[in-house]
Amino acid sequence: MLKELIKKKKAIIGIVGLGYVGLPIAIEVAAKGFKVIGIDIDKDRVRKINRGISFISDVESKELKKYVHQKYIRATTDHRQLSRCDVILICVPTPVNENKEPDLAPVIKSTEWIKDNLRRNQLIILKSTTYPETTERVLLPILANSGLKVGKDFNLAFCPERIDPGNKRYGVINTPVVIGGVTSQCTKIATFFYKQFVTQVHPVSSPRSAEMTKILENTFRNVNIALVNEFAQLCERMGGINIWEVIEAAQTKPFGFMPFFPGPGVGGHCIPIDPYYLSWKAREYDFHTVFIELSARINEEMPYFVVNKTIEVLSTSGVCPNRAKVLLLGMAFKRDISDLRHSPAMKIYEIIKPRVGLVRYHDPHVPEFMLGDRKMKSVKLTLREIKKYDAIVILTDHSAFDYEFITKNARLIVDTRNSVPDGPRIYKLGCRH
Ligand SMILES: NC(=O)c1ccc[n+]([C@@H]2O[C@H](COP(=O)([O-])OP(=O)(O)OC[C@H]3O[C@@H](n4cnc5c(N)ncnc54)[C@H](O)[C@@H]3O)[C@@H](O)[C@H]2O)c1
Repeated sequence: MLKELIKKKKAIIGIVGLGYVGLPIAIEVAAKGFKVIGIDIDKDRVRKINRGISFISDVESKELKKYVHQKYIRATTDHRQLSRCDVILICVPTPVNENKEPDLAPVIKSTEWIKDNLRRNQLIILKSTTYPETTERVLLPILANSGLKVGKDFNLAFCPERIDPGNKRYGVINTPVVIGGVTSQCTKIATFFYKQFVTQVHPVSSPRSAEMTKILENTFRNVNIALVNEFAQLCERMGGINIWEVIEAAQTKPFGFMPFFPGPGVGGHCIPIDPYYLSWKAREYDFHTVFIELSARINEEMPYFVVNKTIEVLSTSGVCPNRAKVLLLGMAFKRDISDLRHSPAMKIYEIIKPRVGLVRYHDPHVPEFMLGDRKMKSVKLTLREIKKYDAIVILTDHSAFDYEFITKNARLIVDTRNSVPDGPRIYKLGCRH
C-alpha cells in the first residue's frame, strides 16, 4: 500500500529538520511531485520557508517560493502533522557536547514525536550522521514503544546524507545513496522511495553498515587532511620543499593516490565532529580509534600553527606584531559557502585577536558574525582598505576574491590555500621562504 502511494506520488513526505540537509531534499522531493511537510523547532526558519525565503545557499528562494505557492512545500513547528506523513526523513543536527561525546538529544526528541504519531505503513528514515547501532538501539526501542512492529507495521532505515554544500557538480539527485533497513522489507521500501528521485541507490545489509559507511567516508577525509597538514609542517621545517608542488606531482600518478590539501584546519558540521561519534562508540567495545585521535590532534593544531606563522612573518618583516593590523580573508569553513560552523577561521580570529593590534575580516558570503557577544562585520575590500593592513591572511579560497588585486596591493600575504602565485611578500603554508 505504501509502495502504491509512493508510485502514484500520493505519499506525503515529512522532513524533520529543515537545514543544509533537509531543505535541499524537500526541494527535490517536491520537484518529483510529492507533497512535503517540513517540521522544524525554529519558528523563524519555518516562517521564512512559508514565505519562500531560503537561508541555504544551495537553495534558491525563487525555486522554494514556486513550490510553496504550488502548495508542494509547507513548513510547521507542529509535530502532530507527522501523523499525516507516509514517509518521514529525520535530518536534525547530531552535535557533540563539550567533552566531544555524541549529543543525540535532537534525534531522540524527533523520534519521540514520530512515535507519538506513528501509524501503520509509515516509513521512517534517519538521515543524520551518527555512530553505528543508533537506528537499531536508539530509534527502534522508542518507536517499538508505540506497540507497532518494525518490518510489519512500520518501516525503519538509515540512509546517510552525503550532500556537499556548494558543490555544483554533485547534488541530491546525482549523488548515490546508501540505504540499510532494519529488516529486508524496510530496505526494499526505503530503496523504492529513494529511487523516485535519486539516480543511484546502493542497499546494504543493515542500518549499522550504512551508519559505518558514512563515518568511514568522513573519517577518511579527516585523516587524509591531517596527513597533508603534517606533511605541510614538515616541508616548512625542512625548507626547499613546496607541499603544493609535491601534491601536484603526486597527483600525476593515475592510480593509488587521491589529492588532499593542507589548510588552516577542518570545519563544518561533519568532518571535525563525526569521527568523535565513532571513537565514543568504539570505547564501548574496548577499542581505541587511534587514527581519529591523531588526526584531530593535528587538524585542531592548525589554527594555532597559522597564527604563530603570521606573527613570525610580521616580526621578520620588521612589523611589531602587537601593533600590527591584520585582515583575515574568508570566514566560512570552505569555498563559496556561508557556513561558519566549526570554521577554523573563527578559531583563528579568536586566537590572533589578543596577539595583534587590530584584526578585521572580509567574506562576501558572511556579512557579519558573532564572536562572543560582539558582532563582527565584514569590511569592504577596497584599495584603501587593503592598504591599511600589515598582513592579509587568506583562510578560505572563495572564488569571488580578486586575487590579482589583492596580491598587487597587499603589503604581506599569508596564504593557507595556495590561492596566489609565489612572490617576495607572500608566505605560503607548507613552504619555507
Ligand atoms: N551540512 C552538511 O553538509 C551535512 C552533510 C551530510 C550530513 N549532514 C548531517 O545531517 C544532519 C543535519 O545537518 P544540517 O547541516 O542539515 O543541520 P542544520 O543545523 O543546518 O539543520 C538542522 C535543522 O534541524 C532543526 N532541528 C533541531 N532539532 C529539531 C527537532 N527536535 N525537531 C525538528 N527540527 C529540529 C534545526 O532547527 C535546523 O533547522 C547532521 O547529522 C549532519 O551531521 C550534514
